[in-house]
Amino acid sequence: MTNKIKKDNSTSFVNNMSLPMHRWYRYSAGFHAEWVEQLIKEKTKDINEKFRIYDPFTGSGTVLLTSDKLGFESYGVDPHPFISRVVEAKLLWDTDFDLFVDYAGKVLNESKKKKGFTENYPELIKKCYPEDILYMLDALKSVLEEKKDDSNEHKLTWLAFVSILRTCSTAGTAQWQYILPNKTKKLKNHPFETFEKKINIMYEDMKFMQSCSSKSKAKFFRQDCREQNSVPDKSIDLVITSPPYANNYDYADATRLELTFLGEIEKWGDLQDYVRKYLMRSCTQHVSKLRKETFEIIKDDKLKCIYDEIFEVCKKLEGEREYRSGKKNYHTMIATYFLDIAKVWIDLRRVCKENSEVCFVIGDSAPYGVYVPVDEWMGKLALAAGFKEYKFDKTRDRNVKWDNRTHKKPLKEGRLWVKG
Ligand SMILES: C[S@@+](CC[C@H](N)C(=O)[O-])C[C@H]1O[C@@H](n2cnc3c(N)ncnc32)[C@H](O)[C@@H]1O
Repeated sequence: MTNKIKKDNSTSFVNNMSLPMHRWYRYSAGFHAEWVEQLIKEKTKDINEKFRIYDPFTGSGTVLLTSDKLGFESYGVDPHPFISRVVEAKLLWDTDFDLFVDYAGKVLNESKKKKGFTENYPELIKKCYPEDILYMLDALKSVLEEKKDDSNEHKLTWLAFVSILRTCSTAGTAQWQYILPNKTKKLKNHPFETFEKKINIMYEDMKFMQSCSSKSKAKFFRQDCREQNSVPDKSIDLVITSPPYANNYDYADATRLELTFLGEIEKWGDLQDYVRKYLMRSCTQHVSKLRKETFEIIKDDKLKCIYDEIFEVCKKLEGEREYRSGKKNYHTMIATYFLDIAKVWIDLRRVCKENSEVCFVIGDSAPYGVYVPVDEWMGKLALAAGFKEYKFDKTRDRNVKWDNRTHKKPLKEGRLWVKG
């Protein structure tokens, strides 16, 4: 593999904000598209026949879009109700760009004439936007709702709208996904101008993509990669993915601003039913009701190959919990997370061809300072599902601020390569 992308940069999405298509929506959880491109090129350099790539945790679609750019077929799944809409819209890059610009232009012009309403928004939204900004964003939203149809142009214009919500907020939302209405930033972004700029960027990028390839060959499903899904049996040559880490990051909360703005949820409590219940159990909010079942969960046959180790870690975490003020159920989170991962490997075995290759970008974790050897356990679970070998390639050291000041465990991020 060439080394143009610095190793420690390949797991970050930030650089994608200067790349065509990937810059349409900032998803901090994504990885670096140029690294994905290099990897696909390297793995396909001696191959002439059909080659299919799969990302079981599609997110904002970095792998699918890169496969499209290079002309390869790809599959992806992600059940997140908001981010799946984002990726579905991004995959419409092969739409007629003039029709898209006409449609989006009409939405913009009608919005400028429209009276926006701001009273009915929840507190969170009122804290995130000064009234005049909210007024214009509401006008854009209402015009989009009035014109709603099933056309590609509408879906692309919706994406342009949701992608400016964070840039137009005075709350500290743009750099990171959590919403911090208490931190204010100076607002440089006028909604109508920002929307127009976004449309122009999308137009340029659609032209660019259409000069690389005529049509999208990606198939995306709003489905769960822990279960048998629509990806066909034995169809995949290469998996490139990054699962949620076992580090308490809440992918439901990460899109709370957008979901609240769109009126799809009203309050934080709605996230469980609307989003979280469909996702991998990688945060404690997800699993609090299962606390008493933790040690039953790890008895599942699918975790047999790591039973002794996971039992020990969960026991330590349960013990720590007793004298921590937050009383977080990290032991339950770790138990359910690895049971979910075991299911993912089982379905990957179903969809992958013999001698396929899988690359998981992963990070390990140490909740309450208790080290969890994520790469090792994932590798063992892959072998238990029928893959032949695994190795871990570290890309960088990292630190996570668990609520434990004495935690000094070195943490790492890297790539788990699985073959078979
Ligand atoms: C680290 S992000 C992947 C980001 C992606 N690599 C990109 O470039 O945008 C993990 C993704 O896994 C998704 N996810 C969580 N549970 C899932 C499940 N059960 N099946 C499929 N995807 C899931 C989340 O919604 C999130 O988008």
